Amino acid sequence: MLVIEKVEKMAAVSRKLRGGGKTIGFVPTMGYLHEGHLSLVGLSKAQADVTVVSIFVNPTQFGPNEDLGRYPRDAEGDLKKCKDSGVDVVFFPDAAGMYPEGYCTYVDVGRVSEGLCGASRPGHFRGVATVVAKLFNIVKPDRAFFGQKDFQQTVVIRRMVRDLNMDVEVVIGPTMREPDGLAMSSRNVYLAPAERAAATRLYAALSAAKGLYSSGERDAGRLKARVQEVLAEEPLIRPEYVEAVDNDMRTAETAGGDTVIAVAARVGSTRLIDNLPLLNG
Ligand code: PAF
Repeated sequence: MLVIEKVEKMAAVSRKLRGGGKTIGFVPTMGYLHEGHLSLVGLSKAQADVTVVSIFVNPTQFGPNEDLGRYPRDAEGDLKKCKDSGVDVVFFPDAAGMYPEGYCTYVDVGRVSEGLCGASRPGHFRGVATVVAKLFNIVKPDRAFFGQKDFQQTVVIRRMVRDLNMDVEVVIGPTMREPDGLAMSSRNVYLAPAERAAATRLYAALSAAKGLYSSGERDAGRLKARVQEVLAEEPLIRPEYVEAVDNDMRTAETAGGDTVIAVAARVGSTRLIDNLPLLNG
């Protein structure tokens, strides 16, 4: 497994691989890898000749009062997981390499970045789109793999790729969950034991709405109210939003097969997100 820190070296390796006819699968991450990331590595290995994982805690997607400084990091553990999973190349740039002195170009994806997490984390998706666009230019993947867990992020990236004619296929892998339903996330490490127990309510609430949908309820307001009811049973949870949207981030009044129920909540001081497509979730 090759570990590359320099942008120029990564770009040169990718150029050579593509020149030699190899397809590149790419899994961008911020590290602290878990089974969710590794499932994307598995998809990439099945769909591309060479798998590249990037590990970069991207400062531009964190707001001034967010957790950039304490975002969990475990370089050694991540490299071992990558090696054990058969990753071919780990791209591990530093902030100065990605955003050199004088850096001033950003990618702003419009409407689909504005609601939900975009409303509560101003500038977040601008940072995500910018770094993903840069990583695509450096790694030059044929296919890039993202998790359904970050649903709005997948919509923003697909839109950026489409609007900017980027020559990469975006593949979305399913949300990986702990046995009790909690969506895997690097931020779960912040949860104290009581908060960890409370956090299972997020999936329970989404599942309750999905159950209601399966029994025939189509009114999105009532489905969202069911989510709020289940969350309200747990005092450690403070919901930030509960929304019903389609794959283009349009609010659904009437739920259908393409509706996704998305939630963000504070569990203690930790902000968690989760979502469930009403069909095939
Ligand atoms: O989902 C993440 O881990 C990040 O938002 C990403 C896509 C790696 C960009 O920094």
